[in-house]
Amino acid sequence: MDIKIKRGSVSSEKSDAAVFTLFEGERPDGALAEIDDMQGGVISRTIASGEFTGKRDETALFHLVSKAGPARVILAGLGKRDKFTPDNLMRAAGAAAGLARKSGFREISADASLPEISSRDFASIFSQGALMALYDFNKFKSAEKNKKEIKTLTFFTEDKAEEAALKKGAAEGRIIADSVNFAKDMINAPANEMTPSVMASRAKAAAKDVGLKLKVLDEDDCHKLGMGAFLGVAKGSKQPPKFIVLEYSGGKKSESPFVIIGKGITFDSGGISIKPSEGMEKMKYDMAGAGAVIAAIRCAAALKLPVNLVAIAPCTENMPGGAALKPGDMVRAMNGKTIEIISTDAEGRLVLADALCYAARYRPRAVIDIATLTGACVIALGDFAIGLMGNDKELTGEIIKAGESANERAWELPMWDEYLDAMKGDVTDLRNVGGRKAATVTAGKFLQEFVDYPWAHLDIAGTAWEEKGRPYCPKGATAIGVRLIVEFLRGNGNGGGI
Ligand code: BES
Ligand code: MN
Ligand code: ZN
Repeated sequence: MDIKIKRGSVSSEKSDAAVFTLFEGERPDGALAEIDDMQGGVISRTIASGEFTGKRDETALFHLVSKAGPARVILAGLGKRDKFTPDNLMRAAGAAAGLARKSGFREISADASLPEISSRDFASIFSQGALMALYDFNKFKSAEKNKKEIKTLTFFTEDKAEEAALKKGAAEGRIIADSVNFAKDMINAPANEMTPSVMASRAKAAAKDVGLKLKVLDEDDCHKLGMGAFLGVAKGSKQPPKFIVLEYSGGKKSESPFVIIGKGITFDSGGISIKPSEGMEKMKYDMAGAGAVIAAIRCAAALKLPVNLVAIAPCTENMPGGAALKPGDMVRAMNGKTIEIISTDAEGRLVLADALCYAARYRPRAVIDIATLTGACVIALGDFAIGLMGNDKELTGEIIKAGESANERAWELPMWDEYLDAMKGDVTDLRNVGGRKAATVTAGKFLQEFVDYPWAHLDIAGTAWEEKGRPYCPKGATAIGVRLIVEFLRGNGNGGGI
């Protein structure tokens, strides 16, 4: 879908449908009131009768009689005005775009005036909502490739001064949504189509697209660096592991970078501690963290954010091959710490341990890791809260803020020292499982043993996959973390150069 900005009024310009957002309990005004008048008041009567109330996620479709202007109007509810959030607008845009596609419309337009928000933000958020809602992973479906898609979304404004702001907002929204959708393409892909090598080639494509430095460490490189924990997991698979590193320099040379690390288990069978077969197919999304960080650095670079950023994605399968790790085995991580393998299914923390050690070489300003790490996180927080842990209150505070503004919300869990006891080994420094109690926190405490810088850990086991579908997030991968990280970087490095 192309996004255009044009001078003129939504009410007089031609389109298959003009989208208007409306607050709950309010009546049409501006361009919508003009259309309503021309149509003999059909819209206001529909509202007065209670058929359309303006509640969040609600939509209504009107067919117009006049030949000039839009052929139809789509109303999209924003909820109560005093409870307005940008997320409600994103949902309205998603719901409207979904309805327009379902109805087979090709050209849609939107009225971009909402006093609650600047024109730039309106265009950005509306574009994101629409583009993310229209995402469809149909690459492997033979019949659906020629499905009708919306061709253009046009924002109209009569104010010349607003044009530039709308253009900037739309460009920004497109970059963010494209990055989210780029992550979703990786995460939704079947595991045999998204091996560590394929992940590396996606990272290469992103690097070429937006100008990033790329390093892909193979098994030998990792061996030389002493990454015994990462390679321990990789041993059970025939797929060669890839330790992917992307670098973006948007800040001053002297400025230390942020590092983002994503768990990249392209399939988690559990290894020798094999998982139950029911639902195992879902474990293709165990690389959602890796997908998110590759997409986030792509997005940061495309937005020209004034920060230095490194993305690290340790990618491997977790398989029970003949050479696989066994319970009771021991591995040694890059920082020399020894780990007894209690369960080969607690593999995420192993690959992250070496990635966290590797991150230290950048003398990072802060490191954020993101991982589908524990089933216990799903039990504790459900499917719309990220589990957040860390060693720096300012950092976790900023992540919470960024999460709220991206509506990828994070909830902080305690990291008291007592929790580490469960992770101490009998014959080794650490064990990779600490039992059933507080399993999300003990996993976090395990990771903390590999960091010596400000650090935060995001457990996205519950939030990385959407079962039912929401207005701007279809079923499947959510790409959670991409927008949160970008918001976080903007809070820290501000704005961006586009
Ligand atoms: N990838 C899983 C965690 C997971 C579970 C992600 C459900 C998404 C949905 C992780 O590698 C794992 O298997 N964790 C184990 C750890 C346990 C053995 C300590 C778990 O949570 O059961
Ligand atoms: Mn596992
Ligand atoms: Zn896993």
